[in-house]
Amino acid sequence: MPRVLVTGGAGYIGSHTAHLLRSRDHHPVVVDDLSRGHAHNLDGLPFHRLNLRDTRALASLLKNEAIDAVIHFAAFIAVGESTRAPELYFANNTAGSFSLLEAMAEARISRLVFSSTAAVYGDPDAVPIPEHARIAPVSPYGESKVMVERALYWMDKFRGLRSIVLRYFNACGADPEFPLGEEHDPETHLIPLLLQAVLTGRPITIFGDDYPTPDGTCIRDYIHVRDLAEAHVLALDYLIAGGPSGAFNAGTGAGHSVRDVIRAVEDVTGAKVPYTIGPRRAGDPPSLVADSSALQRTLGWRPRYTSLHEIVDSAWRFARRSTTSPAE
Ligand SMILES: NC(=O)c1ccc[n+]([C@@H]2O[C@H](COP(=O)([O-])OP(=O)(O)OC[C@H]3O[C@@H](n4cnc5c(N)ncnc54)[C@H](O)[C@@H]3O)[C@@H](O)[C@H]2O)c1
Repeated sequence: MPRVLVTGGAGYIGSHTAHLLRSRDHHPVVVDDLSRGHAHNLDGLPFHRLNLRDTRALASLLKNEAIDAVIHFAAFIAVGESTRAPELYFANNTAGSFSLLEAMAEARISRLVFSSTAAVYGDPDAVPIPEHARIAPVSPYGESKVMVERALYWMDKFRGLRSIVLRYFNACGADPEFPLGEEHDPETHLIPLLLQAVLTGRPITIFGDDYPTPDGTCIRDYIHVRDLAEAHVLALDYLIAGGPSGAFNAGTGAGHSVRDVIRAVEDVTGAKVPYTIGPRRAGDPPSLVADSSALQRTLGWRPRYTSLHEIVDSAWRFARRSTTSPAE
């Protein structure tokens, strides 16, 4: 039973993955400083409250817990915040990851799955985006991940560290099996914001409807968090079986506009979404859709949640549950 350190396991995608690992007979151990995550997501998982930048404590923990491999989610994730405070993103995401790499080297751990992002591509020349597309981030957030990807290349070459980099597109939805869902604070993601608008009646602002897309709103590739969690388990097992390093897009290959998502939310909730149209937001490319054929080919991964309706429905079930149960 592999012992897996899950950094950021109290957060959205990390908690889904940690619970899936446990249900698949792996032994996840969570490290999180709870700066952006929630203790209630842990639900009995072995947990250490720790900031990644504490290299010494991390190295001791890796050794004491006899960790075999690491899945590294812990990061700050808001593009807008990264443009207001880039130093925070380089310190937390980049330096935090470098600290983890140092601790892993000391503990002689040589397998890592890393959460990267479609933001590494910036404003791509064409969609769907293959992995060999130009890496040209347009935000400090994207750059904070590119720097880690570059470090992983060199760590592979000279340290024998094998890594799978997963560049996620828009993670969304909630797992039907576990009582988990998306609870970022502040929330910046479209589906939970639309659901909040329905629940509170307070209008949401849509950033621009004059993009060069069929209905003028931005197109994104929405990948269900359970599908994403499955990709991590496959990536981990692949590395443990001796697979080489690689970087893969994690998306469904289908693009949905903001208006498509609004329509799906209205269908699922049976309510009108109150919204206003505002100006474009800096750094939002018109369309981001993944070519994830390499992930499918190499790891045998297949997205199960390919219907936007189903994705929104899972997020709606979670949003309703969290508004009716007391918050922790
Ligand atoms: N949510 C998305 O759509 C999306 C898309 C692309 C990439 N990603 C990447 O996926 C990963 C997880 O995203 P998420 O949506 O689950 O975010 P999240 O904010 O829900 O979870 C991140 C977790 O990391 C913890 N953390 C942050 N910095 C830490 C540090 N220095 N030390 C210890 N713990 C720390 C937070 O407390 C939080 O629990 C991130 O690396 C993010 O960049 C997310």
